Amino acid sequence: MSSVLVLNGPNLNLLGTRQPEIYGHTTLSDVEAMCVAHGEARGTLVTCRQSNHEGALVDAIHAAKGTFAGIVLNAGAYTHTSIALHDAILSTEMPVVELHLSNIHARETFRHKSMIAPVAIGMICGFGAIGYTLALDALIAHVGEAK
Ligand code: DQA
Repeated sequence: MSSVLVLNGPNLNLLGTRQPEIYGHTTLSDVEAMCVAHGEARGTLVTCRQSNHEGALVDAIHAAKGTFAGIVLNAGAYTHTSIALHDAILSTEMPVVELHLSNIHARETFRHKSMIAPVAIGMICGFGAIGYTLALDALIAHVGEAK
């Protein structure tokens, strides 16, 4: 059974109560349960992690190598700033699907730039919590093709 990681960054632990008009009412544990069930239905083991700390996210990407076939990554605000996350993806050569609940291109200009995008397979944004299942499908298809 293939195994993938869903990795969420800063403030995503507050999903459900954080700016629900932008991020929706679904909590992080709802999202994670949805991801696990979605993976199960596709014969893929989904593990979920969240951290508010940039270094912990870097560590999680490093640790993913050899353990997971790929990562769905919502790096939150670190998306727009983190050369360290960019380098971690580059260094591990992990297949990453970048994911955002909101359409970052329809928001403030500082959200238009992604440090993840140049090193990701692709990006899904703007579809709310369902985006995680779209990202999982994209990642599962990618790692299946890569075999
Ligand atoms: C986000 C978008 C980011 O700009 C923001 O900082 C987040 C959440 C999203 O899922 O839409 O924390 O990644």
